[in-house]
Amino acid sequence: MYFIMDFVTIQDRLFCNDSELCTQEKIRTIVYDVPQRVSLVAALRIRDVIQQKQREGKACVLGLATGSTPCKVYAILCEMHVRGELSFRNVHTFNLDEYYPMQKTSQQSYYQFMHTHLFSQVDIPQENIHIPDGECRFEDVQEYCQHYDQQIALLGGIDLQLLGIGKTGHIGFNEPGSQADSTTRMIYLDKITKADAASDFYNVHHVPRKAITMGVGSILGAKRILILAFGEGKAGIVRTSIEGPVTSQVPASYLQGHPDCTFFLDTASCASLTRFSCPWTIKG
Ligand code: F6R
Repeated sequence: MYFIMDFVTIQDRLFCNDSELCTQEKIRTIVYDVPQRVSLVAALRIRDVIQQKQREGKACVLGLATGSTPCKVYAILCEMHVRGELSFRNVHTFNLDEYYPMQKTSQQSYYQFMHTHLFSQVDIPQENIHIPDGECRFEDVQEYCQHYDQQIALLGGIDLQLLGIGKTGHIGFNEPGSQADSTTRMIYLDKITKADAASDFYNVHHVPRKAITMGVGSILGAKRILILAFGEGKAGIVRTSIEGPVTSQVPASYLQGHPDCTFFLDTASCASLTRFSCPWTIKG
């Protein structure tokens, strides 16, 4: 339960590159000891944005991710709601992606994931929920995707975008080769992404080959971005995204150009950053 760690103080941060000389790191990066603490910090930031918008009498537009990384964040947000501390009445959500084709009723659908982990447990109006439609007719997908981006724009853009990162460096399902100005669209999944999803589908051959994903440009349009990564399996791609060149081969590297993006890491996922792996090479 989140109240055990209700007060995350600045001292709890093991590392933050905000004011330090560290030219390799091109995205603001904050490290906490364990995923639970990272998740609490992310949930508190989401709560703060929702409540700030409530005080202003405005809608709050959230961009949301699925996968293992944000599960605890959603659990904490649900708990805040159950404790009467947080309402989602003013919240509109846009999920990053959905497999294609994919039935909403399928247990592997991101539609099910989001309803199980968040939407069925909070007071968000159903009509405010947007998840790319894996049941959309193939011939309608392009128009559907344009409409998805238009709906985001009509609401004034995304106030806060929550992201995970795939081993390919994908954000959403923007696989290597995705352009910085790409919009919501159908995409083929990388074979590494399919291998990572294989256990959910019991066999890699059952993983859909395609998905609908918000584009890199759609994501970069968010006013604020929080990207989370946990575990040693993400350490390499985390380093490449934060320290490497901006390249379409590592879509998360595009985040280097965003004015308000923060990477939140645990001690395992930050391990390959130069600061930790070769600290003696850093000046200052
Ligand atoms: C999911 C999404 C993906 C995941 C990424 C990490 O909606 O957009 O980019 O965030 O594949 O997945 P996990 O968290 O399962 O490691």
